[in-house]
Amino acid sequence: MAKTPDPASQEIDALLDERRTFVPSDAFRASANAADGAVYDRAAADPEAFWAGFARELEWIEPWSTVLEWDPPNARWFVGGKLNASVNCIDRHVRTARRNKAALIWEGEPGDRRTLTYFDLYREVNAFAGVLKSLGVTRGDRVALYLPLVPELAIAMLACARIGAVHSVVFGGFSAESLRDRINDASASVLVTADGGYRRGGVVALKQMADDALEGTPSIQHVVVVRRQAHDPLPVSMQAERDHWYHELMAEAPLRCEPEAMDAEDLLYILYTSGTTGKPKGIMHTTGGYLTGTYATTKWVFDLKEDDVYWCTADIGWVTGHSYLVYGPLANGATAVMYEGAPDWPARDRMWEIVERYGVTIFYTAPTAIRAFMKWGTDWPAKRDLSSLRLLGSVGEPINPEAWMWYHEHVGRQQCPVVDTWWQTETGAILITPLPGLTTLKPGSASRPFPGITAEIRTADGQKVEKGGGLLAIAKPWPSMLRGIYRDPERFVAQYWSQWPDGIYFTGDGAKLDDDGYFWLLGRVDDVLNVAGHRLGTMEVESALVDHPDVAEAAVVGRSHDIKGEAVAAFVTVREGVETSDTLVDVLKAHVVKKIGAIARPDLVLFAADLPKTRSGKIMRRLLRDIADGKALGDTTTLADPAVVAKLKDEYEDEEG
Ligand code: WTA
Repeated sequence: MAKTPDPASQEIDALLDERRTFVPSDAFRASANAADGAVYDRAAADPEAFWAGFARELEWIEPWSTVLEWDPPNARWFVGGKLNASVNCIDRHVRTARRNKAALIWEGEPGDRRTLTYFDLYREVNAFAGVLKSLGVTRGDRVALYLPLVPELAIAMLACARIGAVHSVVFGGFSAESLRDRINDASASVLVTADGGYRRGGVVALKQMADDALEGTPSIQHVVVVRRQAHDPLPVSMQAERDHWYHELMAEAPLRCEPEAMDAEDLLYILYTSGTTGKPKGIMHTTGGYLTGTYATTKWVFDLKEDDVYWCTADIGWVTGHSYLVYGPLANGATAVMYEGAPDWPARDRMWEIVERYGVTIFYTAPTAIRAFMKWGTDWPAKRDLSSLRLLGSVGEPINPEAWMWYHEHVGRQQCPVVDTWWQTETGAILITPLPGLTTLKPGSASRPFPGITAEIRTADGQKVEKGGGLLAIAKPWPSMLRGIYRDPERFVAQYWSQWPDGIYFTGDGAKLDDDGYFWLLGRVDDVLNVAGHRLGTMEVESALVDHPDVAEAAVVGRSHDIKGEAVAAFVTVREGVETSDTLVDVLKAHVVKKIGAIARPDLVLFAADLPKTRSGKIMRRLLRDIADGKALGDTTTLADPAVVAKLKDEYEDEEG
């Protein structure tokens, strides 16, 4: 668990001893969206009826005939129902008093600002849906979106949803090669990108990266380029016929574009995420169930009300941005804040400045960010007016109790419940979480499954664990569950449904249950890292390293990091005749960035004459983790050559000084 560098931590330790739990205040409880504890039992008794209740709050073109058809591992929710996600996120609000309510309040890193009302969003989405059609996009086609965190990204997603095209958002921090692989895996016909975006004062040249990617993407017919700043366009090269400026196409676009009636089980999007092999998985989410899950959880977990100003700091390139910056809040008719840039640009109070400026009431971020705020000190939040905040959330990694307490004290002024929400790209929506009007909070625990969700701890061979640690399982289907891995049904079964029989979903996470039945998440049990709340496969990084001509073999493990939770440590053996040097360390780090993106940059590269393996030839990852963390070596008797480890350890100690 990450340590806390904050000078205020003594004070926090004292608080931790005294007040381990936090009961919802009477005032919060009195007006909470979920205020009746009986809902847990009701939902458990009839989960299908429970979910159907939320689904009925959405707008359907045709009603469903059956709530759930479950033929493990294949689920079909709201069978026969027809709806359109963009209609649910926009049109139905435009018909009400929400018409001129702010839907998106956007702020760019350089300080440019834009507010789009629901009616603005309606016009933009209609127009861009028309643009996509004019480029030949039809139902079921895949559209890749590689954009900074600008409103056009949300507009493009909703425009795809409107015409029944499937969006595949690729995080703007991924490299050209990562983009190319994702475009090719999905055979996308159109790419929407931008001239660039801003990060820590610098420009990320997205179109240039896209141009590199596009050298090997035969399926792409058209590229639409958003000009990030009208007055200061970034230099890009536009290829005639293929490349078009977004604003030029939009100027010609029709006012309206009729929404398609989509089947509840039609694909809404693909989002690639890291798994245990070198190749990311295209997680598939469908329309009716996904929208129901994100709508319901946004309403209850964030206790969303008409007058809230809701801010999820995630980038839309990750699932959190899909579910809790776009679909969940917009399906609820909320006002959502969207911020493009870094939390410490131009100063370390940028987030609090934004909270103050827009009167943000609900703030949802990652433990990595909270630990960074802690390190920067309490003065930054203290100098801004955060009194509008009424609820705080955390997602992406286990939150250590000290970070939880700091968040509660220095951001929430002890007035705001903190909801620690556990979920995954695959689950589509939050599955384990407090309900802020009902749940007694324990710092560091995500508490209980959302009503209607059956989470369990199991041993590797399937025994249910009533108290203590094990593997986290989800025993019953839920509406927003993944429907598959794009074009890889076998991997879908192998990855999620083979640990245990009978349709029990394997999360890949370890967790423990305490005396009160609270879940404490313990992190991944597979070869997936969680670096600053972002998923990264060890094999992906290993493949990137061995792709370099100087590298013979590589093993990647996570190492504890004060802020990021986990950082990448790489053990590398070089080819015969290659000299190891600090320069080569830098070259290899840069190579990984080029292959995957900056999030995968190794924190530590150690050269080794050989990698420690068991007699059967398996790399001893746990040992490497211990070495990377500087821990004692323990028992190495199963090693083929213990001298290897001793050498690695010495090299590690040299590097650390
Ligand atoms: C981890 C992000 C502990 C977990 C929404 C999971 C968490 C992985 C939490 C999914 C939490 C997410 N507490 N761990 N509150 N939330 N995780 O797909 O290991 O990017 O399997 O989805 O993040 O990451 P993903």
